[in-house]
Amino acid sequence: MAARFRIFRFDPVLDPKPYYRTYEVDAEPTDRLLDCLNRIRWEQDPTLSFRMSCGHGVCGSDGMRINGICGLPCQKLVKSYDEEILLEPLPVFQVIKDLIVDLEPFFERYRSVKPYLITASLPPDGERRQSPEEIHRLEDAVRCILCACCTSSCPVNQNAETEAYLGPAALVRAFRYLFDSRDAGMEERIRILDRKEGVWGCQTLWKCTEVCPKEIPVTKQIGQIKKNIYDAKKAGG
Ligand code: SF4
Ligand code: FES
Repeated sequence: MAARFRIFRFDPVLDPKPYYRTYEVDAEPTDRLLDCLNRIRWEQDPTLSFRMSCGHGVCGSDGMRINGICGLPCQKLVKSYDEEILLEPLPVFQVIKDLIVDLEPFFERYRSVKPYLITASLPPDGERRQSPEEIHRLEDAVRCILCACCTSSCPVNQNAETEAYLGPAALVRAFRYLFDSRDAGMEERIRILDRKEGVWGCQTLWKCTEVCPKEIPVTKQIGQIKKNIYDAKKAGG
């Protein structure tokens, strides 16, 4: 079958403004959109730029907007689309070239939530052990591959007045440590999260949950952080 793509193109060094270019690729129905992108680059247009690495929904590097919805082209099959497939860069972030955006502001917010274990004791001889129930609490959040699809889709992050909001991906990472039985940084974490650009920036619009390619219950986890902060403050008087 012939798959038709309309792709956002922009090289800030050469192009006065962005434009769209159409490509046609001979594809099997079960080919992934990423296979087609690679074929376009190898066989038709070596100037087309996009990020990719694993090709299997693991590295999170190929996030882009597919027919208006943020997702991973390595997880989407050609047969799921009837007509022309529109590929654009993730919104919210600045375009570096074509489908590649500058994710530094995304990773800056991610780093700001201290995405590592904070401990109060020296490491034991073996592992810091957890019960199956304690591990289960983190399992969903640990699946996050930092693809930025949730943060790009969040209407709060898309709004220039509220774009300083940490965003869903950073909050999923905060959840992962806040609810880790081995972590001793709760007070410090709550200080980072308890502000309008932190967890309270979330307006519970569910867009993040709708697009997450790892099916993480993002909005629910953000709600649990809110409840945790509320309970901790109540307990502290
Ligand atoms: Fe991607 Fe989901 Fe992680 Fe957001 S929560 S960065 S959508 S994997
Ligand atoms: Fe790694 Fe798509 S290429 S997640």
